[in-house]
Amino acid sequence: MQRQIQDRIDRFLELASVRHPVLLAPMAGCCPPAVSMAVANAGGLGACGALLFEPARISAWCEAFHAGSNGSFSLNLWVPDPEPLDDVVADRLMAEAMSDWGPTVDAAAALDRPIDFESQFEAILEARPRFFSTIMGLPSQSMVERLQTLDILWMATVTTVGEGLAAAAAGADVLVAQGAEAGGHRGAFDAGDGISRAVGSFSLIPALADQVDLPIVATGGIADARTAIAALVLGASAVQIGTGFLRTPEMGLDPAWSEALRATRPEDTALTRGFSGRPGRAIRSKFVEAFEKGEMPEPRPYPAQRGLTAAMRNEAAGTSDMERMQAWAGQSAMLSSNRGAADIVEQLAAEIRTFLSVM
Ligand SMILES: Cc1cc2nc3c(=O)[nH]c(=O)nc-3n(C[C@H](O)[C@H](O)[C@H](O)COP(=O)(O)O)c2cc1C
Repeated sequence: MQRQIQDRIDRFLELASVRHPVLLAPMAGCCPPAVSMAVANAGGLGACGALLFEPARISAWCEAFHAGSNGSFSLNLWVPDPEPLDDVVADRLMAEAMSDWGPTVDAAAALDRPIDFESQFEAILEARPRFFSTIMGLPSQSMVERLQTLDILWMATVTTVGEGLAAAAAGADVLVAQGAEAGGHRGAFDAGDGISRAVGSFSLIPALADQVDLPIVATGGIADARTAIAALVLGASAVQIGTGFLRTPEMGLDPAWSEALRATRPEDTALTRGFSGRPGRAIRSKFVEAFEKGEMPEPRPYPAQRGLTAAMRNEAAGTSDMERMQAWAGQSAMLSSNRGAADIVEQLAAEIRTFLSVM
C-alpha cells in the first residue's frame, strides 16, 4: 500500500509541477494573492476563487502572484446554474423577511446576477494557470477543447461518484472530491442534490478511486496531518485545504470570524441555503437557525437568494456581526491554525513523508 500511495502522489506532483501534495482551496472572497504565494513558494499549489472578479481583476490577481512566486496555481470559476424561474411573489416575501435582518431589501435584488462566466473564462485562458478549476457543473465541450489546446489542465470539483464519472467523460484531468464536511458552498452539479446527496469524504474518496481512473484531490474536513494522511490512504493523490488556511495571517480574515473558527465544533456548522440559495456549510448562527426552525420563507434559488441577502451580508461583514455574517466553515474548523501558510504546508508535507516512510 505504501508504494501505491507514493506512486499516486508522485504522479500528481509531476502533473501539477509542485513539490508537495498540498493545495490551497479556491475560496471566492477569501483569496488574497499573499496566501497563494506563501503556499506555492513552500511547494504547494496556490488558488484563486475568481467568482467575484471582473476579467481585469483576474489578470491583476495573476500579476500580483507572479510578482511574488514562480510557483503553480489554479484559477476557479463556478459553472452557472440555469436561470431560476421568475416568482415575483416569492421574491417579495423573501425581501420582506430579509428587511428584518438589516437594511430594507427591494424584491428587485433577486434579479442581480454574477459576473459573466464567458468573459471570466477568457481572462483565465489569457492568464494560462496550471489548472482551471470548476465547481457546480461542467464547462462546455468547446471550453474543454480550448483548455486542452493551451495545455491548461482542468480540475473538476465533484461531490458524488455520478458527478465524477460525468466529469471524467467530459475530459477532466483531475477530480476534486469534495466531501460534505467541506466549508463553503457544496459543488453539487444540481443544487437540489447539495443536501440530499451530502456524501462524506470517508465514503466518497475510495468510491471515486475505485471507479474513476483519474488523480483525485481530496477536499473537505482536511486540516492537519491526520486528516491529510487519511485522505491519501483512502485513495487521494493530494489534499486541498480551505478552512484550514482561513486563520493564517496572510488571509487577513475578520478577527471575529477567525476567533469563531477556533471554537467551532463539527456540530456547530450547518449546511444552509439561506445565504445564496445554494447549499453551503457555515458556522451556525441566528440567521442560519432561523431557516432551520422554519422562521424564514423557503430560500429562493441561486442566484436570486444571493441578491436578496446581499445587503444584510455586507452590513454584517462591515460590523463583524457573527449572527448574520456569511461565515463559511468546514466541520474540521477547530483544527485550523493561525500559523503562516508556508509553515502549514511544510509541516504537513514533512508529516506525510514521515508517515509514508515508516508505514
Ligand atoms: C470561504 C470559502 C469560500 C469558498 N469559495 C469557493 C469557490 O469560490 N469555489 C470553489 O470551488 N470552492 C469554494 N469553496 C470550497 C473550497 O474550495 C473547498 O472545497 C472547501 O473549503 C474544503 O473544505 P474545508 O473547508 O473543510 O477545507 C469555498 C470554501 C470556503 C471556506
